[in-house]
Amino acid sequence: MTKVITYGTFDLFHEGHLNLLKRAKALGDWLIVGVTTDNFDLQRGKLNTCDNVMERIEAVKATGLADQIIIEEYRGQKIDDIHRYGVDIFAIGSDWTGYFDYLKEFCQVVYLPRTEGISSTQLRDERPTVTMGIIGTGSIARRFVKEAEFVASNSITAAYNPDEKECKAFCKEFGLEPAGSLKALFGKCNAVYIASPHYTHYDYAKAALQADKHVLCETPLVLNEAEAKELFKIAKDSGLVLMMAHKTAYCPAFGHLVTLLQSGAIGEIVDVKAATTTLTDEKDAKMDSTRFGGSMNENGCFPLLPIFRLLGTNYRKCYFVSKYKDGVDIYTKGIIFTDSASATFEVGLGAKTEGSLVVSGTKGYAYVPAPWWKTSYFELRYEDQNQNKKFFYPFDGEGLRYEIKEFVSAILANGYFYSRLPVGEILAMSRIQEDFINGKKVRILK
Ligand code: CTP
Repeated sequence: MTKVITYGTFDLFHEGHLNLLKRAKALGDWLIVGVTTDNFDLQRGKLNTCDNVMERIEAVKATGLADQIIIEEYRGQKIDDIHRYGVDIFAIGSDWTGYFDYLKEFCQVVYLPRTEGISSTQLRDERPTVTMGIIGTGSIARRFVKEAEFVASNSITAAYNPDEKECKAFCKEFGLEPAGSLKALFGKCNAVYIASPHYTHYDYAKAALQADKHVLCETPLVLNEAEAKELFKIAKDSGLVLMMAHKTAYCPAFGHLVTLLQSGAIGEIVDVKAATTTLTDEKDAKMDSTRFGGSMNENGCFPLLPIFRLLGTNYRKCYFVSKYKDGVDIYTKGIIFTDSASATFEVGLGAKTEGSLVVSGTKGYAYVPAPWWKTSYFELRYEDQNQNKKFFYPFDGEGLRYEIKEFVSAILANGYFYSRLPVGEILAMSRIQEDFINGKKVRILK
């Protein structure tokens, strides 16, 4: 019996895929089809797939051509599969000619003619697109425009900034249309990304939601819980997506770290310790007390993410110790207790600390080195060092592409969507920010 194996993502299954499978099947008696997992695609930088792995497997199955379907989940797996399944022929489309010659050492390699004029990329481009308008045209917005190019089914159409000169310069740089008013911006998009100063988030987000636009808003969403609740209510009542643009929450490594810890990899969690300090020029707007600058407002959402994700949002107490300069906290330390665990966090714009994340448990601890909020690597460490494990992930570009993909998918999913950053966590973050701004349990250092 001649065994043939082929691999693909098979996203938005099309005629080219069908022809390829027919040709591969004709080479032997038994056809094995490897379908990439969502995680593997993410790891190799393919962030634009529309169908999930189950849908893609079902599509391959429906052809009736595959005698066996396997999933492809790691680089180098092809060699393992060839040995494991006793494969005689590895077949793949001619767009890969030469690329898989290294497999000739293990079996016959055949490059099959590719069907012209069709591809998943083309089909994805023809699908409905989320048109995005940008509010605020500073450095993070610049990064956002560049990162959005890596995500399918979106296009950035226009930008708005009350400072017309700045807006025009930004639009010129990226070939966008400057919108002279918010109303004009809303007329050019069905979703907005808000990257303006913190204190403007609430007004912009509310205006956008009331204009029937989906909203992706930079951290912190707002600076008090009532406003956050109100925005989520408007979004829910109108069937709109409202998400916080928190890059750590959507990146692959952080997601896996959390699921590992939630499944007991270090036993019961007793403490979370996280620091996010980013030394900032004193003249920067982030240090402006009249514009809600300061370390807590600027960086607070980062350490609060692992704390609430791992300990839950039902905390008992939160105390702060802060050092102030010119009306803003240049450094703040926070201590949070739940019934069964503690957490400490540090944020700073005018003081630098070790920026790692350490989660302590009854059986071991997780260590994520600085800057942990751009997680690409972490370790699980135990008393018996032989048990220690290291985990590596991609954190491509600026990391914003993961949140953009999530936002676009949420909009196109028409409500059937589970957010990786639940509303409850965002509300808890805004509650903490609010308490801090109101000076509740804040001890100020000299
Ligand atoms: N394929 C083909 N003819 C096409 C498209 C794909 O023969 N028009 C083959 C590929 O060469 C590969 C298999 O189908 O052997 C699965 O390819 P996949 O990458 O999933 O499909 P593409 O349409 O090429 O996807 P993308 O546009 O995302 O690269």
